[in-house]
Amino acid sequence: LLNKELSMNQEEYQKKYQEYASQREKVKQDPWRLHYHLMPETGWVNDPNGLCQFKGTYHIYYQYSPFDVEGQTKLWGHMTSSDLLHFKQGEPVLFPDSRVDERGVYSGSAFIKDDTIHYFYTGNVKLIDKEYDYIYAGREQNLVHVESQDGYHFSDKEWLLNQNDYPQEMSCHIRDPKIYEKDNRYYMVLGARSMDDQGCVLIYEGTDLKDWQYKMCITTNESFGYMWECPDLFDLDHQQFLLTCPQGLPHVGYRYENVYQSGYFPIEIDFKNQTYTLKDFRELDYGFDFYAPQTFEDEQGRRILIGWMGLPDIDYTNPTCERGWQHALTMPRVLTQQNGIIHQSPVEEMKALRQSHTQTTVSNFNDCHLNGYVFEMRIAIQKSDDFILQLRKGAYLKYDQSSKLLTLAFEECGYGRDERHIELETINNIWIYSDTSALEIYINDGSYVLTSRVYSLENEDNIQFIKSHMEATIDFYKLSSI
Ligand code: FRU
Repeated sequence: LLNKELSMNQEEYQKKYQEYASQREKVKQDPWRLHYHLMPETGWVNDPNGLCQFKGTYHIYYQYSPFDVEGQTKLWGHMTSSDLLHFKQGEPVLFPDSRVDERGVYSGSAFIKDDTIHYFYTGNVKLIDKEYDYIYAGREQNLVHVESQDGYHFSDKEWLLNQNDYPQEMSCHIRDPKIYEKDNRYYMVLGARSMDDQGCVLIYEGTDLKDWQYKMCITTNESFGYMWECPDLFDLDHQQFLLTCPQGLPHVGYRYENVYQSGYFPIEIDFKNQTYTLKDFRELDYGFDFYAPQTFEDEQGRRILIGWMGLPDIDYTNPTCERGWQHALTMPRVLTQQNGIIHQSPVEEMKALRQSHTQTTVSNFNDCHLNGYVFEMRIAIQKSDDFILQLRKGAYLKYDQSSKLLTLAFEECGYGRDERHIELETINNIWIYSDTSALEIYINDGSYVLTSRVYSLENEDNIQFIKSHMEATIDFYKLSSI
């Protein structure tokens, strides 16, 4: 039943990588290449994986299809950094080259214990019935473990869980392991879809990172999507949070505007008694392009999140596809919480990108004649009121005080995407990070975020207020490239 066609081992990768030299050169010329965000050299990137800091070095692995802009068979790409700002492109580290992951080394995470990094990921296997003309005959999602002493060299793959180890009432969609440690025990969360199409998170328990026993299933009372991808469980300031990406939520008012969502439940889990309480789900991001985030704790004790600046199964085509690449990752963001609400803020390290500085008020802003695609803008609002801020030609951030609606609106530069919204009583501050073809907009100390790709042509980079009734002070910085 197995299908080998799409597998790729390290040798095949290296051969093809050589052949791709001119394609890499071509992609580099694209003016939409980002200046301080991570992106694939060629091809496709999706979820960040295996995030960790080990012996000082930050490791970022990610879902990667280097030779296919539409993201077919996934490898784990790899980048490293010593300062979380400048990254070194490494060689991919995990290939779909075994019986357990031949249709993709899917998402997973890293867990550091003593001097070893343990990686857990989903080995994806699609079953094809060759006798009946290659009809798709289901899939297997295996839990695979590898370890490394340095983040670059890996042990053999160990197959820890397979379809028979999952609860009977589950479908074959069980993936994206992440580890949580509490009271000398390990808990592994896995995103899942039940047979009756209820999204949920399965929790396994273990004491040695190898032997995992099924413990419990977390879900909502009322149906909340058919599949929960990429779960992540962690504590922030004594509050537990469960991040996950539900698929299949209906679009309600201005909520859940994307095809799939990404957000969190404040949660309290009593592992011993296998009980839990979930509070309301909140979206982590309200922009057009955000999904599958993962967090890790760095050596300074910061909880850092990186998301995929993209979404699966979209019904429009990103214009970078015809230029040989698609998607990117967000800036690393530090998470804090207040009363169960997560705040996201770009890591302090990003400040090193700041070049020229202009400080002004909203009423004097247009006299500064600002332009550029690569900038940071901090707006401290003294009196909230209506405004329309043009971030570049055809891209606007607007607030309407009477309807309490913040809107990110795109014209041509949205390539088929028009508006995203947040309902907000008041706005106190806005931090905008703009890159050649990306925007990350943080509102009210990062308690709301809008992340989006945006595609402007040359000389459309005029930044101005079209309407400006609020009172605010603005700090504007041009940013350099990494
Ligand atoms: C989320 C996801 C994961 C899966 C991976 C495959 O974007 O679908 O659930 O492991 O991507 O690339």
